[in-house]
Amino acid sequence: MNYKIITYGCQMNENDSEKIAGMLKQAGHSPTEDENEANIIILNTCSVRENANDKFFGHLGYYKKLKKEKKDLVLCICGCMMQQDSVVNEIKSKYRHVDMIFGTHNIHEFPQLLADHLEKHEMVVGIWEDGREIVENIPVERKHEFKAYVSIMFGCNNFCSYCIVPYTRGRERSRTVESIRSEVEALAKTGCKEITLLGQNVNSYGNTLGEEITFPGLLKELAKVDGIERIRFMTSHPKDISLELIETIAGEKKLCNHVHLPVQAGNSRVLSAMNRKYSKEDYLDLVRKIKVKIPGVALTTDIIVGFPGETEEEFMDTMDILEKCEFDSAYTFLYSPREGTPAYNMEEQIDEDIKHERLNRFLDRHHRISKKINQGYLGKVYDVLVEGLSKNNPDNVTGRTETNKTVNFKGDVSLVGQIVKVKITQAKSFSLDGEIVS
Ligand code: SAH
Ligand code: SF4
Ligand code: F3S
Repeated sequence: MNYKIITYGCQMNENDSEKIAGMLKQAGHSPTEDENEANIIILNTCSVRENANDKFFGHLGYYKKLKKEKKDLVLCICGCMMQQDSVVNEIKSKYRHVDMIFGTHNIHEFPQLLADHLEKHEMVVGIWEDGREIVENIPVERKHEFKAYVSIMFGCNNFCSYCIVPYTRGRERSRTVESIRSEVEALAKTGCKEITLLGQNVNSYGNTLGEEITFPGLLKELAKVDGIERIRFMTSHPKDISLELIETIAGEKKLCNHVHLPVQAGNSRVLSAMNRKYSKEDYLDLVRKIKVKIPGVALTTDIIVGFPGETEEEFMDTMDILEKCEFDSAYTFLYSPREGTPAYNMEEQIDEDIKHERLNRFLDRHHRISKKINQGYLGKVYDVLVEGLSKNNPDNVTGRTETNKTVNFKGDVSLVGQIVKVKITQAKSFSLDGEIVS
């Protein structure tokens, strides 16, 4: 059979989709991009914001039509939304054309659930309430050979008051160093140069293992793997980032000079209401230390505007943090109330127009700052890992610096997967242009 997987949401979901693809491939099925050719369609959902939910239900309606035309099409849905009872109940009652539902904790059961459905020809539902033991050795079919996501831990224990993730991904649990190392060694053997370690809060890696291992300790172990040239990771929670981690990034060549450190908001009262457990001053201190200890570091962040009760004055603290930290890039979000989280019931939800207006002010200022930072790259030479051909110019390739800047330059497909030296010739707000130097 041919399969197509559509992934919403974050890198965790992308990595889960790669595992689902791995299991399908192992069973002899083939990927297809063309929906009309697909016999199995899998939608891997995200519930972090309300509009992600809405988009998904819109798509479900569309697949109802497709299933009418193609009777033997198997429609599977999985991912974070399936860990919410209200969503699953709605699907069971209103979207009977769905064939299979499974959750984030039991993706390894996918082949069995598929077999059940193909035998019984009825809707099959398999959802676990929480993650039990970590299931290792699920085959993974990755998008690229030269770079890969490696999940090092699952779940989250932080319960930021706006966030649904602890409810959809369960309690935090870490993989063992041995299992992570053997995955990374296997990747290196097949030509992988860059790994991105994934966890909702990588700084608490190891807490559930009952052995003396910290995240910097894991990084040092993985840096020993021959063939791996770049190590990235996300996400670092500011409350847990240690001096040891900052020093490890500064001292270990393979660790990219890039820290993704979501601040969420600049005002200490708002941060406390978000249950983030650090103040504006704590964050600024941390950033100062990072910038001093890791010269040339790129700092990126996540921002939420319009958290319940956020006043204009409090929002100005977010603008102030932006001025002071000069983020290289920022993922910005309008606060979205998620049922089941503490912030959902907070009074003083902010008007959508005000949220948009604040976001626009933030983005406007941020674009100018990132352009200024990018101009600092002009005339200098950087190592760039080439990722593929440019979308808008087939004579160009696109790649990334260690600091995660996108660089476009003349080149052909033979460069993909290689690290080359590129001199920067033009700086834009979101990318750089350059030319290869030998
Ligand atoms: N574990 C990571 C991020 C996980 S979710 C961390 O703690 O940094 C990715 C981002 O989505 C969050 O950083 C936050 O900025 C945003 N987000 C989460 N819940 C949200 C909500 N209810 N409304 C708007 N943005 C939200
Ligand atoms: Fe959500 Fe906070 Fe956990 Fe990140 S740390 S996943 S924002 S609860
Ligand atoms: Fe990721 Fe969305 Fe789930 S952000 S963890 S896919 S809710």
